[in-house]
Amino acid sequence: MTSVLPLPSEVSERVATPRHYLMCRPEHFAVTYAINPWMRPDIPVDLALALRQWDELRAVYLDLGHRVDLLEPLPGLPDMVYAANGATVLDGIVLGARFRYPQRAGEAAAHAAWFSAAGYERVVEPEFVNEGEGDLLVVGPEGEETVLAGTGFRTDPRAHAEAERVLARPVLPLELVDPLYYHLDTAVAVLDPVTIAWLPAAFSPASQAVLRSRFPDAIEADPADAAVLGLNAVSDGRNVVLPAQATGLAKTLADRGFTAVPVDMSELLKGGGGPKCCTLEVRA
Ligand code: ARG
Repeated sequence: MTSVLPLPSEVSERVATPRHYLMCRPEHFAVTYAINPWMRPDIPVDLALALRQWDELRAVYLDLGHRVDLLEPLPGLPDMVYAANGATVLDGIVLGARFRYPQRAGEAAAHAAWFSAAGYERVVEPEFVNEGEGDLLVVGPEGEETVLAGTGFRTDPRAHAEAERVLARPVLPLELVDPLYYHLDTAVAVLDPVTIAWLPAAFSPASQAVLRSRFPDAIEADPADAAVLGLNAVSDGRNVVLPAQATGLAKTLADRGFTAVPVDMSELLKGGGGPKCCTLEVRA
């Protein structure tokens, strides 16, 4: 029997699954301090535009059929819009965050309180610094997920074992080396249970080798797409919501059978974030 391998453009239809997200409207968004190289307190932020862009992101998720819950924004926490950093949720277990910098410390309790009020029974306050899904990305088939765990700039390597214990999944430690890609979700996008897109140069040589062997079908992002935080994308298995400026990556995704859904997040980029940073996935 002969078999013909499908060409990349003929990959079988990708399947979207409905998701549950937690978001926080950027009502108090500002860039008043700099804890990553994208943040420039001297450059003004257009708050009205940030709100419009965020409203549009939420509308995109609702149009795609996803559920979006909202976390109450708190004054004095301008980075709270980056909801992905507040927790990591798997099997309904909530591993809370502990932030590296004091400017964001207050966000952790707000997330934990939200999950407790929503009826989540296991909300764990961590001992070590972890910045939620900024550095802990869940990948793999349901029940057999692995947690890709970034370190180097924010999340403490000791948090990896803690995540493994609390979430009851193996953790794959990955070392980030470029301060522009300070969170794992700026350098890797999880597209489906077996496919990631990533920027190899953001990782140490050892971590590059680990990712290459683990994800042979990975999409290597062009540095120009990564530089507009194109990898800060949110996928439901088929639709990939990504920064509109990442046009090359959008084309590659389309070639691989995904539907690219571009959103303009230019104002939130001034804080060093894109669509994924604004989106915490809640896995029941
Ligand atoms: N200004 C925020 C910080 O530096 C941006 C967080 C972006 N979030 C993310 N998931 N990458 O902490």
